[in-house]
Amino acid sequence: MNTTAIPETIAPIVRGLILSEASFSCMVKARSGSESCPKESLRLILKGIAPGAPIDDTTLAAALRGALKPHDAQAIRSQLRSGDTCLDIENERGETLAGFHLIPLEPLDRRYKVAAQSPGDPSLLSSTARAQVVRAKIAFVTGGAQGFGAEIARGLAHSGAVVWIADINLPAAQAFAKELSAEANGAIVYAVDINVSDEASVARAFATVAQTSGGLDLVVSNAGILKAGSVLEQPAKDFRLVNDVNYLGFFNVAQHAARLLRLQWLGAPDWHTDIIQINSKSGLEGSNKNGAYAGSKFGSIGLVQSFALELVEYHIKVNAICPGNFFEGPLWSDPQRGLFVQYLNSGKVPGAKTIEDVRAYYEAKVPMRRGCYGPDVLKAIYYLVEQVYETGQALPVTGGQVMLS
Ligand SMILES: NC(=O)c1ccc[n+]([C@@H]2O[C@H](COP(=O)([O-])OP(=O)(O)OC[C@H]3O[C@@H](n4cnc5c(N)ncnc54)[C@H](O)[C@@H]3O)[C@@H](O)[C@H]2O)c1
Repeated sequence: MNTTAIPETIAPIVRGLILSEASFSCMVKARSGSESCPKESLRLILKGIAPGAPIDDTTLAAALRGALKPHDAQAIRSQLRSGDTCLDIENERGETLAGFHLIPLEPLDRRYKVAAQSPGDPSLLSSTARAQVVRAKIAFVTGGAQGFGAEIARGLAHSGAVVWIADINLPAAQAFAKELSAEANGAIVYAVDINVSDEASVARAFATVAQTSGGLDLVVSNAGILKAGSVLEQPAKDFRLVNDVNYLGFFNVAQHAARLLRLQWLGAPDWHTDIIQINSKSGLEGSNKNGAYAGSKFGSIGLVQSFALELVEYHIKVNAICPGNFFEGPLWSDPQRGLFVQYLNSGKVPGAKTIEDVRAYYEAKVPMRRGCYGPDVLKAIYYLVEQVYETGQALPVTGGQVMLS
């Protein structure tokens, strides 16, 4: 693919190379010329490449790999073990192509490599401590400021991942990032503004990621909205809004995520990454007077399957998780606008006189007699990340309410 030799496109490739060559997870943060380095920098010389010049991305990756080769992987690892390191990339004329801080996370668990290189290895048979699969990885969660997204971000941060909370409500994302970092032993948690239905906003958010953490390992496309309405009455603008966020929004996020992950893969061809869409049980069966939402979720499963087929070449897995109702989240429990209040007031649940009646009605539809919680969804995320032999799936987490046929 055509690209340009700028720090934003070089950073994911560099992160990939360090994952692959030095078996170390790190963030690759763009550095301004005036910033000093804590110790001696690593230097790479890329011959024949001008700053900002158009270039094929595989050529750029090959040049970076060639320039890194003479450096001893063990030496890079020990430099990262001892703290922040600077990396300067120039051409043979001494022109700067990029300057980065390499911010070390952790050496890689050897099972990552074993899973990629010899998937039948008996040492992989026991799936130990599944939450470890996101340790030292970099995750990006849309709609991460509240509800399921916040639960997912919290779980990932507690499991040792660096987490990006991307939300249209930036103040809430910033406040939650701060709270989460304090709560999860100083975990690195960033907040970034995003409106998933606006392509330019999504592009800006991913550019910020590339400049700040270089790459990503896990993208959770969770932001979604619901506007219930009868097909006989729902205004087209409501239908469009739901689809703009849930369906087009997933396309926008998957597109920009995949571009970044592909660049990183050029550096790390043995590294698997994940795009996971938080779909819904309403993506697997119709939802009465809720067609806009169910349609957007059914459609997204078509996108998941199609993107999975295309992106498998770059070791990007694309899957959906289809949770049941999260009764404790704001969507249901908000005292003013939550679905419990709405369904009580509209008489949707026959004979219901209180919110508890509405809740009991919906819980009774679930064979396991309860709603879905954040940890239920998180376990599905860990499974999908750990499982390097599956893609394009829609995984129900519904307490038995929806069964695949
Ligand atoms: N709550 C449930 O019962 C339930 C059940 C199944 C699936 N889901 C799915 O889970 C996901 C999260 O749902 P929730 O109930 O936690 O939602 P929520 O309304 O509690 O939170 C959604 C978050 O997304 C953000 N957001 C909304 N529009 C956005 C946009 N255009 N760009 C970026 N961020 C945006 C909001 O600011 C908010 O922080 C959705 O995709 C939803 O369809 C929810």
